[in-house]
Amino acid sequence: MPEPFDKEYAVQAMFSSIARFYDLNNTLLSLGLHHRWKKTVVRMMAISNGHRVLDVGAGTADLSLLACDQVGADGAVVAVDLNAAMLLVGKEKAERLGRRICFAVGNAQQMPVQSGYFDVALTGFCIRNVSDIDLSLREIYRSLKPGGRFACLEFSHPTHRLFRKLYDFYSFTLLPKIGTWVSKDPTGVYQYLPDSIRRFPDQKEFARRIEAAGFRHLTYRNLSGGIVAIHTGAK
Ligand SMILES: C[S@@+](CC[C@H](N)C(=O)[O-])C[C@H]1O[C@@H](n2cnc3c(N)ncnc32)[C@H](O)[C@@H]1O
Repeated sequence: MPEPFDKEYAVQAMFSSIARFYDLNNTLLSLGLHHRWKKTVVRMMAISNGHRVLDVGAGTADLSLLACDQVGADGAVVAVDLNAAMLLVGKEKAERLGRRICFAVGNAQQMPVQSGYFDVALTGFCIRNVSDIDLSLREIYRSLKPGGRFACLEFSHPTHRLFRKLYDFYSFTLLPKIGTWVSKDPTGVYQYLPDSIRRFPDQKEFARRIEAAGFRHLTYRNLSGGIVAIHTGAK
């Protein structure tokens, strides 16, 4: 296992390398499904007018943009990510669409946000990449108001054995080839992707880790046969 700092450095080098191709590759490699997954997570949080929403590891800001449409003029969306290149793509999208998002470069493990400030915290495909998952979950917990809600959209473990075999073939064989070719990536990010998914805790274990960070009312929901799962909890 790489040391935490090595992992952070390697992960950031990968996202810097593919930032401009990230959205295109997401759409190609998930056959467009990631849009549906992201809409589902935002819908599940029932974000409403005036809410303050934190998007952790916001990247190119898809979840932030969806949240923006729900919070209205009285609410706020804050997008935190360690990678300036990814955030810049998100910022350009927000400007093009005329959406107001506060972008901040920061580490999920020590976020530049006030404690107890947010009604909702979202994170999509970030937690798998951080060096210390438990510390990040505690940070997200800290950021929320009492009663605030958290949702994590992350790759998970397909539940059906045969489907898992098919998915393994796709993600270990085809996905790295297509992803690397499209982005001309020299860092190996699309080889890292399936490896990191396999290493990530399964649905039940991850729910236990979220609970250990202080959250209650834990739920999880599998999407697309468990390729991804949405975990939710409340402070
Ligand atoms: C796979 S992208 C997901 C982007 C976006 N949330 C989405 O759903 O499309 C993962 C993002 O997590 C960010 N990230 C990884 N480790 C992080 C950390 N420790 N703190 C903040 N952001 C981090 C990366 O820079 C990257 O932008």
